[in-house]
Amino acid sequence: MALSARSVAAAPVSRRSAVKVSAAFTKVSSTSALKSAGGKQVVEVGGQKVLLLDVNGDISAVSNKCSHLGLPIQGKTALFTAEVKDKCVICPAHGTAFDVKTGEVKGEWCPKLPNLPLVGKGPGKKPLPVFQVRVSDTGDIEVNV
Ligand code: FES
Repeated sequence: MALSARSVAAAPVSRRSAVKVSAAFTKVSSTSALKSAGGKQVVEVGGQKVLLLDVNGDISAVSNKCSHLGLPIQGKTALFTAEVKDKCVICPAHGTAFDVKTGEVKGEWCPKLPNLPLVGKGPGKKPLPVFQVRVSDTGDIEVNV
């Protein structure tokens, strides 16, 4: 039996059924490992490089890929070492400071770059992605990416 257009249009449609909720925390490290790494540790989860930061015992998880040019915030060489100051992580490439909890840019965008005619400082001001993080009673660090 074929449905008429009228009967299909009258069928109730739930918008909630179209929303897919996915929240999954994944164990990525431990508080002792993060401490041993000097409070800055890059982990890979969900295909993304995530930088774990311990700021005075408060743990945050931010993208390790800078929102400016995609360079690593915490790299493998001394040249690309993130600095943490005033609850912000500072990209070593051009000096942008990002709030470790919100990813918001604090202060000047790319202060180490000159503001060139026509191109300015490259891509415009953009926050750094941040991720939910939680610590278990046993010190496991879990991230929701
Ligand atoms: S790549 Fe990070 S501020 Fe430019």
